[in-house]
Amino acid sequence: MQICFATNNKGKLQEIKTLLDRNFTIKSLQEVGCNEELPETRTTIEGNSLQKAEFVWRKYNVNCFADDTGLEIEALNGEPGVYSARYAGPDCNPEDNMVLILEKMKEKENRKAQFRTCITLILNGVVHQFEGIVKGEILYQKRGEHGFGYDPIFKPEGHEKSFAEMNMEEKNSISHRAKAVEALVKFLKP
Ligand code: IMP
Repeated sequence: MQICFATNNKGKLQEIKTLLDRNFTIKSLQEVGCNEELPETRTTIEGNSLQKAEFVWRKYNVNCFADDTGLEIEALNGEPGVYSARYAGPDCNPEDNMVLILEKMKEKENRKAQFRTCITLILNGVVHQFEGIVKGEILYQKRGEHGFGYDPIFKPEGHEKSFAEMNMEEKNSISHRAKAVEALVKFLKP
């Protein structure tokens, strides 16, 4: 069975290919003829992953799935959430986003946060959604050099290291994205 992973992230594409056996051929967007920017204008993580998958399904008529992730901080009423990529403004980088979060969290005692990934699969026109969550806390300052995005300021529950202090293998064994992908893979090959 051929399924398109609606992402422009080569790392994510490679990761999923290693998790599925030969019964599934994962196609990139380019391989199904899609070279355009995917829309991502909804106000929820579920909505954005659905919007991206629907776009590819409708326009290119292929089975597909898309993911969307956000960091949800309890003391900030779930922010940055669906706005995680551009929390500090349209042209911001991950550093700007972390500086803003650390500033907003300066006086907060409640440090609880979670990363949440939603994957939407559209298989023969039927929508299926899968979720992966990792709970943890926001640190008072950045720690570690690995990873990307908010990894230096997030410490998962039950661990001493921040995500950015873990190597890729350690992070991938507990991460939100890994859990969502695991649920997807279990559904595709029970
Ligand atoms: P995306 O939906 O996977 O593109 O993620 C949206 C944004 O969430 C990214 O631009 C990052 O800022 C943040 N993010 C997603 N996953 C992670 C992660 O594993 N570590 C740190 N930040 C992440």
